[in-house]
Amino acid sequence: MTDPARNPHPPSFVRNLFAAISVRYDLANHLLSGGLDYVWRARASRLVRSWRPRTLLDLATGSGDLALSLGTACPDAFVVAADFCLPMLAQAGKKSVPNLVAADGMRLPFGDGLFDVVTVAFGLRNMSDCGGALREMARVLAPGGHVLVLDFSVPPPPLRAPYRFYLHRVLPLLAGWLTGDKSAYQYLGATIEHFPSGTAMEAILHASGFSGARSRPLTGGIVTLYEAEKKAD
Ligand SMILES: C[S@@+](CC[C@H](N)C(=O)[O-])C[C@H]1O[C@@H](n2cnc3c(N)ncnc32)[C@H](O)[C@@H]1O
Repeated sequence: MTDPARNPHPPSFVRNLFAAISVRYDLANHLLSGGLDYVWRARASRLVRSWRPRTLLDLATGSGDLALSLGTACPDAFVVAADFCLPMLAQAGKKSVPNLVAADGMRLPFGDGLFDVVTVAFGLRNMSDCGGALREMARVLAPGGHVLVLDFSVPPPPLRAPYRFYLHRVLPLLAGWLTGDKSAYQYLGATIEHFPSGTAMEAILHASGFSGARSRPLTGGIVTLYEAEKKAD
């Protein structure tokens, strides 16, 4: 049994996968979530706004939709948007997402304590070591800084069975048709099943330099929003 906090796929596989779907990534996101991705990002941005950050890192920013939403919610904050897949960053550039940085979440090119908030939406699940990535986020956070993680989770019954049918049977077919890459969406289903959620993710946050971890299931639990504060040294 592989460790659920580790992605068994190599980083080069993940980078190539997102490069292959980058051009159609936004369209697939909006259609396959029925527009719910806007709702989830708006929810995340409202929570971040309540922390009144001055400096913000959106890690695994991809095509930059969360970075844009955070920039609107926190107009006085300096928002850095980082990802390790250049074709995804190119899509963000087309939408004029500012302050784009090519960076690997497992080894961030930023000094200690630079950011008030680090966000990662649908990205942590793709990183090779969830705990290692969170420790790196804690390192670049200022004392008392916040992390926000948004990611898919498997909902409880009665939604679980229909959700799994959609995730494993319907979504790869629709996404394959939309993006030309069915296998990328088979990977999506496999990583969602494998990835820790709820109290298991809270425990990983507590073991990775954070305190006060809290999870909020959204849309019946198909997505979960996690927040935590950097532990005092
Ligand atoms: C599903 S997309 C999410 C993009 C965006 N945050 C969103 O909400 O639409 C996952 C992103 O994570 C990025 N990613 C995966 N592993 C990474 C790593 N180790 N470092 C930086 N980015 C990574 C991928 O390149 C991809 O752009």
